[in-house]
Amino acid sequence: MQVLTLPSGETVPVLGQGTWGMGEQARRAADEATALRLGLDLGMTLIDTAEMYGDGGAEEVVADAIAGRRSEVFLVSKVLPENASRRGTIDACERSLKRIGTDRLDLYLLHWRGSVPLTETLEAFTELIETGKIRYWGVSNFDTNDMAELATLPGGAACATNQVLYNLSRRGIEFDLVPWCRDHHMPVMAYSPVEQGRLLDHPALKAIATARGATPAQVALAWLLHQSGTIVIPKATNPSHVRENRAALDLKLAAEDLAALDKAFPPPTRKRALEML
Ligand SMILES: NC(=O)c1ccc[n+]([C@@H]2O[C@H](COP(=O)([O-])OP(=O)(O)OC[C@H]3O[C@@H](n4cnc5c(N)ncnc54)[C@H](OP(=O)(O)O)[C@@H]3O)[C@@H](O)[C@H]2O)c1
Repeated sequence: MQVLTLPSGETVPVLGQGTWGMGEQARRAADEATALRLGLDLGMTLIDTAEMYGDGGAEEVVADAIAGRRSEVFLVSKVLPENASRRGTIDACERSLKRIGTDRLDLYLLHWRGSVPLTETLEAFTELIETGKIRYWGVSNFDTNDMAELATLPGGAACATNQVLYNLSRRGIEFDLVPWCRDHHMPVMAYSPVEQGRLLDHPALKAIATARGATPAQVALAWLLHQSGTIVIPKATNPSHVRENRAALDLKLAAEDLAALDKAFPPPTRKRALEML
């Protein structure tokens, strides 16, 4: 598995697994955990979840998936903005730890910016690190101005990543947010990398996929994996999707493929507000 270095110096896999939509229906939970375990077997050992997903149900699926193999996993979860006060963040983290059946998260993110002052959330993150309940913290859905503000706050420079909507059809962040993160040696974690499946019928993706003996999903993922400093977290419950996504790491796009994708999905020429799902 290719790895990428966090600001702390720790390495994480460039291709991980998402869990949004998991844990919503009890009858599907066992299959969802099986899919995550298959992903772990294939080296996709970064798992992204959140207290929001399935109202904690996704974290319970993760608990099942990683039982007995916690040390293999780089575990990411998120606190909802309405819980992100100093006390609320700590309580939310403890609830997540209990649901996942672990004593620590590797990375804890503020899911998006809400009305609680960032300084409060940062104080809670710092306390959680001191007590060993989380190893690193980061943010999600932060635009460039939010990142700049965060960096000025006490402890704000320790932010490990910004998890944002990024795929071929959502390239707005390349104008300023991606360069900002790159300048600060901070990986971007790209969520909804196949636009929840909506990208996959695009003729440009289909044409490259046919030419390369790959699938449109693999082309979409390979394009993101080609962007330096990017961690990619597709969600898949279908085992053939899990295998296909892992194999995207072996697909190297040629210069002509990249040019065709730039033509079909032009990079931004001006600032666009951050999009989120
Ligand atoms: N921070 C945030 O605000 C935020 C927001 C959105 C998402 N996220 C995180 O990012 C993860 C990924 O994003 P996402 O779940 O929104 O969307 P996504 O990964 O772009 O798409 C997931 C959908 O694509 C399908 N799929 C996956 N691999 C495929 C393949 N090889 N071929 C065809 N279809 C494929 C999945 O089907 P099956 O499940 O049937 O296999 C599922 O329906 C989430 O699960 C979550 O962990 C974070």
